[in-house]
Amino acid sequence: MLLVTLWSSLLALTAQGVAQDYGTSPPVYPSPPSTGIGWEVAFTQAQAFVSNLTLEEKAQLVTGTEGPCVGNIGGIPRVGFDGLCLQDGPLAIRQATYASVFPAGLTAAASWDRGLIYLRGLFLGAEFKGKGSHVALGPVVGPLGRSAYGGRGWESFSPDPYLTGVAAENTIWGMQRSGVQACLKHYIGNEQETHRNPALSPNGTTIEAVSSNIDDRTMHELYLWPFAHGVRAGTASIMCSYNRLNGSYGCQNSKTLNGLLKTELGFQGYVMSDWQATHAGVHAIKAGLDMDMPGSIGGLQNTSFFGGNVTRAIKNGTLDQDRLDDMARRIMTPYFYLNQNEYPPVDKTEPTLNSNYPPYDHPFTFGASNVDVRNGHGQLIRDIAAAGTVLLKNTNDALPLKAPKTLGVFGNDAGDLVNGQYFLTSAFQNPFGYEYGTLPIAGGSGTGRLSYLVSPLEALKARAALDGTLVQYILNNNLLTQPSGLGAIVPVPEVCLVFLKSWASEGSDRASLEADWDSSAVVSSVAAYCNNTVVITHSAGLNVMPWANNPNVTAILAAHLPGQESGNAIVDILYGTVNPSGKLPYTIALSESDYRFSDITNSTKLLETEDPNAWQSNFTEGLLIDYRHFDYYNKSVLYEFGFGLSYTTFDMFDLSTDMPNTTINPLPDSLPIAPGGNPSLWQIACTVNVTVMNTGDVAGAAVPQLYLSFPPIPSPMPTPLNVLRGFDKIWLEPSESQTASFLLTRRDLSYWNVETQEWVIPIGAFEVTVGFSSRDLWLKGQLTVTERD
Ligand code: NOJ
Repeated sequence: MLLVTLWSSLLALTAQGVAQDYGTSPPVYPSPPSTGIGWEVAFTQAQAFVSNLTLEEKAQLVTGTEGPCVGNIGGIPRVGFDGLCLQDGPLAIRQATYASVFPAGLTAAASWDRGLIYLRGLFLGAEFKGKGSHVALGPVVGPLGRSAYGGRGWESFSPDPYLTGVAAENTIWGMQRSGVQACLKHYIGNEQETHRNPALSPNGTTIEAVSSNIDDRTMHELYLWPFAHGVRAGTASIMCSYNRLNGSYGCQNSKTLNGLLKTELGFQGYVMSDWQATHAGVHAIKAGLDMDMPGSIGGLQNTSFFGGNVTRAIKNGTLDQDRLDDMARRIMTPYFYLNQNEYPPVDKTEPTLNSNYPPYDHPFTFGASNVDVRNGHGQLIRDIAAAGTVLLKNTNDALPLKAPKTLGVFGNDAGDLVNGQYFLTSAFQNPFGYEYGTLPIAGGSGTGRLSYLVSPLEALKARAALDGTLVQYILNNNLLTQPSGLGAIVPVPEVCLVFLKSWASEGSDRASLEADWDSSAVVSSVAAYCNNTVVITHSAGLNVMPWANNPNVTAILAAHLPGQESGNAIVDILYGTVNPSGKLPYTIALSESDYRFSDITNSTKLLETEDPNAWQSNFTEGLLIDYRHFDYYNKSVLYEFGFGLSYTTFDMFDLSTDMPNTTINPLPDSLPIAPGGNPSLWQIACTVNVTVMNTGDVAGAAVPQLYLSFPPIPSPMPTPLNVLRGFDKIWLEPSESQTASFLLTRRDLSYWNVETQEWVIPIGAFEVTVGFSSRDLWLKGQLTVTERD
């Protein structure tokens, strides 16, 4: 038992006035101007640049226009500015040719590997830059993953805000290190696709977009948490979301934009709207919106809430010149900070790939066509895909494979693509996507154009040939579920691999959490025939696994969305070239109904409504999402958050803590807010160490995880029993041991006090537990916090 004493104190943050009421959005005006803190030199350059612009040029700089990219800011040749090219998305430069398709955010999170996540951002950034794209529209931390049914959870990282925050900051550091601006999205409460935009009722009434109604504590401790990491990491921009937040649209919500983002978190970059998420001009600008994308209203050329309206509003005094200057400076500061005044031109191929046709209103400079930016990134993609594959079951060491004489490969997820290499939703018109072909990534603006794909079957055939293994396969799920569907498979394979997939795409939420295409029947059929069945899932989100305890299902691998090297990565894991080290970034519950605590707002009644305000989503579960819910209500689950097996075994011992003196007393309250909020919050309050040892006979990586249990918190809301507050990934040879250190910041130990509007370290005893998953906790310690004298 460890006894550590911390002085508790109140951290004074810029007060936003009264505590936010549930479901309402108090006004916060005026919009705080940026001061360039952290970007001082670039800020001065931006200041000089903006002071040289005419009113019309400033209005142009804040308004999207037609152009070669998914979002465009027109050039101003008079001052040597070539404009800005904004491209999707979080896992690839979406529509580009000769570009790489990386594993999805979900896969990256499942690796729990800061280094790989950073490199993913770095290489992604390099590809955007190589194509002349100044702004990469990613990473995604909203949706966070309130609902397992969310259609875009896979673009983001994990429903745990700590893991997501760490993944976001590493991605942003990597991307911006390559010279591209990151755009952290979608801010905030964008937790469902259904009703994300306004629509017309049967009688023609405008029904407003769904309102995510989030209480103040949940906002801070869950949904805002990873955005704070992103702001601290220096994200150039933030994309505000389609939904309403506590009744007010995400892109004109002064509380979330002026208040939380620009004041409390000290964000110095610019807020751009999601595409058509702007619903007003002056009102949105005053609420904190800095850039309107794509600039037109409803896609109609020469219409805009910004553009000419901004010029008029300044001229007639409705809008202050200072605010427009601030918008322009916020846009230009990251541009200068990342030296984008010297930047490759836009790939000439892009215009033909884009719906934004020429001729354009503003000039763009083009370079060569079809620039190949892949630059050997395939190996890293393969490494991340393998590192993000989670081994969930491995009875009697079914895996790794040991030169089997016969191998069966089954399921419509095993083979090559048959419908092309680019998955925009509209191509399929099917809630399950396309039927045949493996799922390397999912659909919508977060997709990518595959320059090549290694399918599982292709890679397995190549690997099996080295051992002379007989490979037999059936890829038709309809056939597999027929009574004699496996009749053609002779002899019965030593090992049967079943590949399942779950589609999802922007624009709609998932209909089911089971894998698609009759997956459970496919597993039953194969497992009835083959008593050594290994199931592999490729999934845009989590899957429930009703077949997991079937004794003939000897191993299960959740391979998430691996990107272009899918087949090679799964072969690496199946054959043990790579020892699995991925851990679940979510919980797999026993059944779908277990996830009903945070339902998506969706019903046929709502489709018939005439009430403009009918679409409401009350986040009444508060802080209790994913494992926090299952732990709080003491519910059994199939595989818990943080779980994942290895081909080796690990031991853990010697928990200790130490506390550097500097952290005992907080810095003075008067410290200026820096990007990420009050700098005192990021001070290390305490370090926890454990030693981890590889006790098996193959090398592998362990992921020790630290969970914190708070002392009683004076809040009417339930506090989660345990929250993740540290993790590390450690590579260990057999018998090797190493120490993992977890650095706990003041913020990690704090809760959000809604009355005082401050982060507060509660008085009392914290329990610190470290283990290999959220329910496999090995060592315990205690930190006791007492009152300051
Ligand atoms: C809408 C999506 O929500 C956003 O993520 C994307 O960046 C834009 N469309 C542009 O494609």
